[in-house]
This record gives sequence, structure tokens and C-alpha cells, in this order.
Amino acid sequence: MNDVSPRRLVAVAGATGRVGSVIVEGLSAGGATVRSLSRTPSGLDTANPQITNVHIDYANPSSIASAVEGASVLVISLGSSDDQAHQEIALIDAAVHAGVEHVVKVSSWSWPSRIHPLDWHQEVEDHLSKVDIGYSLLRPMTFTAVIGAQAELIKNNLWGGAAGTRHANLIDVRDVADVATRLILSGEASGSNRRAYHLTGPDGLGVDAIAEHISRAIGRTVKYTHRTPDEQRAALLSLGMSEWTVELIIGIDVESFASGASTEKTSTVETVLGRPPRSIPDWITENAELFR
Ligand SMILES: NC(=O)c1ccc[n+]([C@@H]2O[C@H](COP(=O)([O-])OP(=O)(O)OC[C@H]3O[C@@H](n4cnc5c(N)ncnc54)[C@H](OP(=O)(O)O)[C@@H]3O)[C@@H](O)[C@H]2O)c1
Repeated sequence: MNDVSPRRLVAVAGATGRVGSVIVEGLSAGGATVRSLSRTPSGLDTANPQITNVHIDYANPSSIASAVEGASVLVISLGSSDDQAHQEIALIDAAVHAGVEHVVKVSSWSWPSRIHPLDWHQEVEDHLSKVDIGYSLLRPMTFTAVIGAQAELIKNNLWGGAAGTRHANLIDVRDVADVATRLILSGEASGSNRRAYHLTGPDGLGVDAIAEHISRAIGRTVKYTHRTPDEQRAALLSLGMSEWTVELIIGIDVESFASGASTEKTSTVETVLGRPPRSIPDWITENAELFR
């Protein structure tokens, strides 16, 4: 059921992103009025009358204030950068000031940690606990799309890491976005409600099984080389990756995959959407071209 009046405005920060763009699409298809916020809105859909594209400058408080003005719900789905916590907290404070009722924040499946951006998400969640605004926190498991981020390494037979052999319940970004959209359209994400949603895929796979699925999809053997964290750090730094990206990849390998934290499975996606989440093998089949 769609309980959102078309006159109620949903502002989406991170509207050009992997999750944010699907949320904008889903909300507008469901009849909501959407304000897409972007640092560079020129690439956004201009044909849909339900969507207004607005430029936002996160360094300018008045730009942030006008970006959220008049919205009932603010979706925050910003990409990771050193500025993420600062930008998201500025959005939340502007929303509180403007009388926005509810924030839907795309956060992360996490635990107290020094890994960025997990600690940044924690900082933003802590901030939400201190201000007067309703919220829906989406805490998704690592995205299935991270397999796609390994495509160049896979193509060059360089894929590997310290993830160990346990399975991980990766989630499709479209399911994260679909949950956000459904919560907003149904009215569950509204007013002073405050709740966290822990989102996982339907059945996890380990890295060796993922390699087998990719191999079948492209007709060539793909292997994951198991490395120690130190070996992995040296391998990634030699490829020119930034230090924080390397520490994020190793941190997720060690603290999330190898530890078994990513083996957890929740029924939340299916409860909210009334259908199971998309599977890792289906994602690999759909995206096989990336690995050829
Ligand atoms: N990757 C994972 O496995 C995973 C798992 C769980 C949770 N998450 C979290 O999910 C959230 C959304 O992820 P996503 O992949 O949809 O994000 P994304 O596509 O990387 O970025 C979303 C948007 O954020 C905006 N943005 C604003 N300031 C930015 C900055 N300084 N640096 C980069 N982007 C900036 C950009 O839009 P404009 O340029 O148009 O403003 C960008 O398109 C992130 O906070 C991430 O930590 C990720």
C-alpha cells in the first residue's frame, strides 16, 4: 500500500549513487514527490515531473539548509569519503532545524571498529540518538557489487585477500534501495518512529564459491588467492590503491568475512518486501560481462 501523499516531499542526498539512484527511481514510480540532491546534478533525470534536481554544496550551510527545506523525509545515502560523517551530520542538523520529520540513513552492518567508513556510520548514528528527529537506519551487509569492484583484478588473475573461507551474506544494492523505498511509501519510515533494519542477502557464499560461479559464468577458471593481511596490504599498495581503501578492504576481510560476522542472515528484506532478497549467483550471472 502506498501511504505517502504525493504532496509530501522526500529529499534524497546521494541521489546519483548506487543505492540513492534506485531509491529515487522507486519513490517516483511509487508516486512520491522527490528532490534529488547532488553536487553535480547535471547527469540526473530531468524528464520526470515528480523529481526536482537540486545542486547541493556540502561546504555551504545555506545550500544544505535549502536542500532539505520543506521535506517530510530526508534520505541520506552518501558515498564514503573523509567528509562523510561531517556532511551527513550537517544534513541531519539542517533537517532538524527545518522541521523534517524523519531521516532514512543508509548506514552499515557494523560493530565498534576503527575501520572507515564503519566508524563514520557509527558517528552519524550516535548523532541521530542525540537530536529530535525520527529515523530509520538501514544497516546492510557488504554489497554484492563489491565483487564487481574486483573485476580488473579478476581479469588479470590477481584476485585474492585475507577473507578466509567462511561464507558472506552479501546484499544486492537494489534490495537495500527497495527496502528504503517501501519503508517510505508505506509510511513506516515517517514521523518520530526510530528503528534499525539489519539487511542481508538470502544465502551467503565464500570467496572460493564466488570464484567458481564467476568461472562458470564466463567459461574460464577464476581463482581467489588466499593471503595473510600483510601479504594483501603489500599486494594492494603495489597496485597504487590509497591507504584507507587498502585498510578498509583488509579490515572487512579480517573483521567481517574471516571472523564469520558476515555469515549472519536476517529475514528483514523478505519481511519488508514480501519476497526474498536477490542472490549472489543471480548477480554474477547478470554481471558476467564485467569479468570477461
Ligand atoms: N559498499 C558496501 O559494501 C556497503 C555496505 C554497507 C553500507 N554501505 C554504505 O552505503 C552507502 C551508500 O553507498 P553507495 O555505494 O550507494 O554510495 P556511492 O554510490 O559511492 O555514493 C553515493 C553518492 O554520494 C554522493 N557524495 C556526496 N559527497 C561525496 C563525497 N565526498 N565522496 C563521494 N560521494 C559523495 C555522490 O553524489 P553526488 O556527487 O551526486 O553528490 C555519490 O553518487 C555508503 O555510505 C556506504 O558506506 C556500503
